[in-house]
Amino acid sequence: MAAPVVWFVGAGPGDPDLITMKGNELLVTADLLIYAGSLVNPALVERSGAKEKLDSWGMSIEEMVPIMVDAARAGKKVVRLHSGDPALYGSMVEQIAELEKHGVEVNIVPGVSSLFAASAALKTQYTLKGVSETLIVTRPAGETLERDDISRLSELGASMVFFLGTERLEEIVGKLRCPPDTPAAVVHHASWPDQRIVTGQVRDIVQKVKEAGISKTALIIVGGVVDPAGRYQRSVLYS
Ligand SMILES: C[S@@+](CC[C@H](N)C(=O)[O-])C[C@H]1O[C@@H](n2cnc3c(N)ncnc32)[C@H](O)[C@@H]1O
Repeated sequence: MAAPVVWFVGAGPGDPDLITMKGNELLVTADLLIYAGSLVNPALVERSGAKEKLDSWGMSIEEMVPIMVDAARAGKKVVRLHSGDPALYGSMVEQIAELEKHGVEVNIVPGVSSLFAASAALKTQYTLKGVSETLIVTRPAGETLERDDISRLSELGASMVFFLGTERLEEIVGKLRCPPDTPAAVVHHASWPDQRIVTGQVRDIVQKVKEAGISKTALIIVGGVVDPAGRYQRSVLYS
């Protein structure tokens, strides 16, 4: 008999059309859907044909895993929907470890991370010839992370993207060791209908974001790629 299975699916950044075709097929045909309520678009939850739909907000892994195990063992199609791509700032690996202890197999369908919805919103590339060949994805220290490497990393001159940092924008900017005229942007709710973009420089981005009233669910992007005009070289491929 085939082993019980749980599917981890990336929901995409918000726009319900930005889930993959494979992810959508699983979503529509699921029997049990467990989704990350605060960041998954409700339209995706509605689109799912699952009889049981559970918001994982406030649930512990110890609560979630037995529900997934029982359903998978009963032959149900179990879909665990994570926002963006499950490989970034999620809890997928710890869930996999628990599921595998119970003999449950895991399959993963990647998603479009908000990382890429933000570059699309800014109409830029994170790696751009003559500007940066390196992308740093990181987050600030806070309640759930003791220390970060923001100061050290910001000396490298790479493009930087900060997750989970909107409430700590001032602290992040205070730690940066790049020049104050380095371009910076904050993209709130990338790909959602209420998407907002604030652009500026390291020296004024905190004030501009305060004035815009953005305080959560955003990405902070720092580097020349935020304002590429006049900075980049044409790629060898197309020149
Ligand atoms: C727990 S992490 C999940 C990230 C997700 N796995 C991804 O790939 O986008 C949540 C953080 O991602 C960022 N985020 C998620 N969706 C976003 C969006 N549509 N626009 C901007 N930032 C977003 C915010 O920084 C938020 O605090």
